[in-house]
Amino acid sequence: MSNTKIVIDPITRIEGHLRIEVEIDENNIIREAWASGQLFRGIETILKGRDPRDVGLIAQRICGVCTNVHYRASISAVEDAYGITIPNNAEIIRNLVTLSLFVQDHLVHYYHLHSLDFVDITAALEADCTKASDEARKFSDHPYRNSVEHLESVQEKLSGFVKAGRLGLFANGYWGHKTYCLSPEQNLVHMNHYLEALSLQRELSKAVAIFAGKTPHPQNLVVGGVTSVADMLNPQRLNDFLFIIQETREFIERAYIPDMMMIVEGYRDSIKAAEGRSKGNFMCCGGYRFGKQQQLFESGVIKGHNFDTLESFDESKITEEASRSWYENDTALTPYDGATTPFYTDLNDDGTLKSEGKYSWVKAPRYDGEVMEVGPLARMIVGVVKKSPVIVPYMERFMAKTGMQLLDFSTTVGRNAARAVEAQICCDYLFDMMSNLIENIKYYDETTWTKYVFEELSTQATGRGLFEVPRGVLGHFLRIENSTIANYQTVAPTTWNASPKDSNNSRGPYEEALIGLKLCDPSAPLEVLRVIHSFDPCLACAVHVMDIHGAELSSYKIRSL
Ligand code: CA
Ligand code: NI
Repeated sequence: MSNTKIVIDPITRIEGHLRIEVEIDENNIIREAWASGQLFRGIETILKGRDPRDVGLIAQRICGVCTNVHYRASISAVEDAYGITIPNNAEIIRNLVTLSLFVQDHLVHYYHLHSLDFVDITAALEADCTKASDEARKFSDHPYRNSVEHLESVQEKLSGFVKAGRLGLFANGYWGHKTYCLSPEQNLVHMNHYLEALSLQRELSKAVAIFAGKTPHPQNLVVGGVTSVADMLNPQRLNDFLFIIQETREFIERAYIPDMMMIVEGYRDSIKAAEGRSKGNFMCCGGYRFGKQQQLFESGVIKGHNFDTLESFDESKITEEASRSWYENDTALTPYDGATTPFYTDLNDDGTLKSEGKYSWVKAPRYDGEVMEVGPLARMIVGVVKKSPVIVPYMERFMAKTGMQLLDFSTTVGRNAARAVEAQICCDYLFDMMSNLIENIKYYDETTWTKYVFEELSTQATGRGLFEVPRGVLGHFLRIENSTIANYQTVAPTTWNASPKDSNNSRGPYEEALIGLKLCDPSAPLEVLRVIHSFDPCLACAVHVMDIHGAELSSYKIRSL
């Protein structure tokens, strides 16, 4: 019997436009998969010919979610090109903002974009509120907003939506799907925190805006430092920031982590079956200094789940190719030389992707020629393998409470667990970073900008900004000629994870993670959504286009089925 193709387009509850096609056999097991970025953008082209001091405000428009990290990486790339070292205070303020975003991003991703793949909202309506309150106490000594009365009010709110026929954003779920594993009470506990996380993410936006001016499009970075001088010197502002982070810390400790433990318990079979496991190649560039000589994340490369061998990370091994992507260049190039001439080859006549040809706007980045998974899972695994004093205690605690092994994290559920642990680490260490800042100010170091004279800087230079950001390793690479931007390339985390196949026919991490997955009902492929969502896709970030020759970009069309 021949294989059947299933097309999911678009994948919702992500940023951007992603299409997934899978081929299932007669037992509904996925035998092949294709991830296709369905978006075409031109930010890298717009940057060409610009004054290097302007790149930040333009590059941050690459994405409407990850604005800050593109802003920061682009400005850091210019600083790197010119050899400008920013003051300590500037680095700390940049870290406070980026790490608050990590926390906000992880919370929003889990609760609002992903949790309903595990939590059946309609089942929560049948929960006994007294039992639900007891259930939450199995996973935490002080569960977040867990009184029976409060849970009753949550249930009332939910049933109000249902009765009025206004499920709204809950309207199109696969409710009642056979693979939902939580009890009605566990579902209710989760829905309670889903609603609480809505207001918390708003507060975190305020925290970011204290230093960044506004969000999502921040204004506080300039080449050489930050402009948040008045905020840094205002104790009330610092206190407002810490207040929000303290509230968030409570939520993570009493809701997010316990809820994740509940998911691990409920979906243990999925972990044991290694559902969503990719190739086991992980890459981290590390970063976020604090204190005297410590850093939050370690760098390193792991191949094929071999946790005994950690290679050191060497950025010169990064290349991008487009043999299966809708661009002309098929050879692997380093980002500094990256060329991108669109070459759209359309879909098949039946509206499916050209499985053997080009099929995505996402290019294929490779490290030393190999596919790499990036993100919280990579960071937690590399941190543990490298015995990071920051990461090990948190991971050990989570593993002790859930019985998970390190390899178990390399699954759909484990990817989420790693993200939750990372959110807790980022949130806790924000206090250390703030202490560093206050310490500096106390000793009259109020510098926030390194002075330079633009006209005296080299007219020709190359530089890069390389950062761990919520979804993984982000690189901005630029070349300056005649004091303007001559070439610009971004390699974003989702470019790594949503990568299509390459000239060796090696699958990207999304694709690899889908192979072998059994669908219980091919007309409701919830299992596929779980795997893909666990990576936290941001397709807007993944797809950038530039043409180094400055030629007209070719026209394209997208056919819908
Ligand atoms: Ca790019
Ligand atoms: Ni993004």
